Amino acid sequence: MTDSPDLENISLQIQQARAKFEGQLDSVGTDSVALESLRVLALGKTGYINELAKQLGKMNAEDRSKFGSLINALKQDATWRIAERKQSIEGIRIKQRLANERIDVTAPVRASALETGRIHPLSQVWDEVVAIFADMGFAVEQGPDIETDHYNFGALNFPEGHPAREMHDTFYFEPDASGARKLLRTHTSPVQVRTMEAGEPPFRFICPGRTYRCDSDQTHTPQFHQIEGLVVDETTHLGHLKWTLEEFLRAFFEVEGVELRMRPSFFPFTEPSMEVDVRCARLGNEIRIGEGDDWLEILGCGMVHPNVLRSSGIDPEKYQGFAFGMGIDRLAMLKYGIPDLRAFFESDLRWLKHYGFAALDVPTLAGGLSS
Ligand code: DAH
Repeated sequence: MTDSPDLENISLQIQQARAKFEGQLDSVGTDSVALESLRVLALGKTGYINELAKQLGKMNAEDRSKFGSLINALKQDATWRIAERKQSIEGIRIKQRLANERIDVTAPVRASALETGRIHPLSQVWDEVVAIFADMGFAVEQGPDIETDHYNFGALNFPEGHPAREMHDTFYFEPDASGARKLLRTHTSPVQVRTMEAGEPPFRFICPGRTYRCDSDQTHTPQFHQIEGLVVDETTHLGHLKWTLEEFLRAFFEVEGVELRMRPSFFPFTEPSMEVDVRCARLGNEIRIGEGDDWLEILGCGMVHPNVLRSSGIDPEKYQGFAFGMGIDRLAMLKYGIPDLRAFFESDLRWLKHYGFAALDVPTLAGGLSS
């Protein structure tokens, strides 16, 4: 038994290991990472408690069972103490989360994007105009923003060098190899020609779209919006034009007594040409449509010039019709009392909140245009 271990010393080592473990567990506190390190340090394969057990192999059976059960008790205690601490750390963590993540179910619900988002007055008016004309059986047509001189001017009966071209303050592109210059369309009228070229009469359509002119002040922006209208068949006459515009303006301004006045005017693409005014009252900055003794110019129109029909491949001996064009921006300003056009393009959320429309209030004639 000379090489048998010093039993007193082992007893002491077990006691020291227990005390050491207790001390270390104390300093772990509620730190779960430190707790895991302690578990490895004490109970891991080469941990100090397992190291003690290695001495059992050198003992006789009686001593092995005695010290074996002491070491096992220490192992079990330590394992249990670690599990217990782990549980209490988890408990603290859950308590903290519950405190931090508590929701106040009595707090008011935050408004959804659907309620805070707004439809821009221009989009609103665009939709309103389309709803009214769609109800009258008009199709909606489109054309390109970048146009040729032919569609923007030539085919619309603007003679070469005619002053009407200058009046449009056109944005031109650099000339191409052949010297031809493309341009940003100055009006939606080119869509008349493009649509007639591509189809067969009769025609009844509108074209809402972007238009461009080199101009900027309180009532002009370099990019703006127009709606073009065209009706062509064998018997369409001026009376139809007047009725259509009256119906449109009454529906659009949502005022029964809208009154129109037609003044002779000039556009190269219509003959005769007219400008249409609506009766209004001006009260300071406010304009009231359908009342008062003032007149407000609102659109241009006329009977389609035979040359325009001809350049669109339509026989002017057989077909005739009317056209009209108006500014969507101007309609929006008048209907919704918006004094400065430039604000339309400034993306100021406060402005949009004031003048904008609820996202789901889609304008329809049956449901109401602007309510
Ligand atoms: N294109 C014209 C403009 O921008 C507006 C216009 C006037 C269109 C009379 C028409 C019309 O179709 O008949 O100024």
